[in-house]
Amino acid sequence: MSDSVNLFSPIKVGPNQLPNRIVMAPMTRNRAGAGNVPQAMNVTYYTQRVSAGLIITEGSQVSPRGAGYPLTPGIHDSDQVTGWQKITDAVHQKGGHIFLQLWHVGRVSHSSYHNGELPVAPSAIKPEGECFTYEGPKPFETPHALTLEEIPQIVNEFRQAAKNAMSAGFDGVEIHGANGYLLDQFLRDGTNHRNDEYGGSLENRTRLLLEVTQAVTDVWGENRVGVRLSPAGAFNSMSDSDPQTTFEYAADALNQFTLAYLHIVETLESVDRFDFVALRKKFAGLYMANSEYDLKRATEAIQQGRADMVSFGKLYIANPDLPERFAANSELNEPDVASFYGGTDVGYIDYPALTNV
Ligand SMILES: Cc1cc2nc3c(=O)[nH]c(=O)nc-3n(C[C@H](O)[C@H](O)[C@H](O)COP(=O)(O)O)c2cc1C
Repeated sequence: MSDSVNLFSPIKVGPNQLPNRIVMAPMTRNRAGAGNVPQAMNVTYYTQRVSAGLIITEGSQVSPRGAGYPLTPGIHDSDQVTGWQKITDAVHQKGGHIFLQLWHVGRVSHSSYHNGELPVAPSAIKPEGECFTYEGPKPFETPHALTLEEIPQIVNEFRQAAKNAMSAGFDGVEIHGANGYLLDQFLRDGTNHRNDEYGGSLENRTRLLLEVTQAVTDVWGENRVGVRLSPAGAFNSMSDSDPQTTFEYAADALNQFTLAYLHIVETLESVDRFDFVALRKKFAGLYMANSEYDLKRATEAIQQGRADMVSFGKLYIANPDLPERFAANSELNEPDVASFYGGTDVGYIDYPALTNV
């Protein structure tokens, strides 16, 4: 890649012409309204961040069973679609681009979310720790292992959610295959002990991700669908006996689609070393890098061709005008961790932009 390409260079992602390579990473903020419907403060929040080349929304559950945290927005009923439509309209009016993240938490949930029914997973293996429920933290439960007959329903939920996202006016969708949620639970052998065609071999563990990607790309066309993976993350009690091989296989298998991008969370929580460059080489399309990037590291990654785009999470919580701040090399606001998950406007839509400082 030429030296002249930098974070501020435009990039074409499928039909979407992005003005820069600075992406807002998906972030759950637990501030949906009743019925998990996006509400007015969510419109303000996303619209404030419209100068990002691309906004990826917080995870949005594809079905009621896909939820595992309080007040996360859904994309499975018409009120939720109407709520999201207000967000996409406002973002588009200001010239922005926005993808919805399609989410199913799998075992990282609790029966109190599902009228007493257990969360679902590839295998009946309980995560460590506690679930955040509406009644406070409760120990995780041993999930119900999805039967072969139940798996097509999961694929259909993603397909319907993808259709709903299109009705809501998004520019594309990102499939959440990262961070220990359902699709990741199928990919990694620490959580997938199945001995049918969805477990065991790499081909089998990758099958659900590919079936979901097929269903979602059938709805959207391939180059408006991104996939997010976290090969070396331990969050939500995740592990794999050979992550390099597992995720290189998955990245290569995803080449059967012409995706908008592959979005990789490059944390090293479960292993000392993971070769993200080797992973990237397996994937033929655009590569979006994430985790702990700042202006310097992101600039290097783009200039060295290690990434085509970089997504920023925590920096975007605190800096609605992150591209402007990067361009001016100006100071950054510090994120307030206490207001990350849930609450009011405070710590959500009250971070000052440069012009207001
Ligand atoms: C408050 C918060 C909520 C998050 N929610 C999501 C989410 O809904 N989906 C997802 O894929 N990642 C989620 N993440 C992970 C971020 O997208 C990102 O991978 C992580 O923050 C590391 O990037 P950063 O160092 O730029 O913040 C969340 C992170 C934070 C801090």
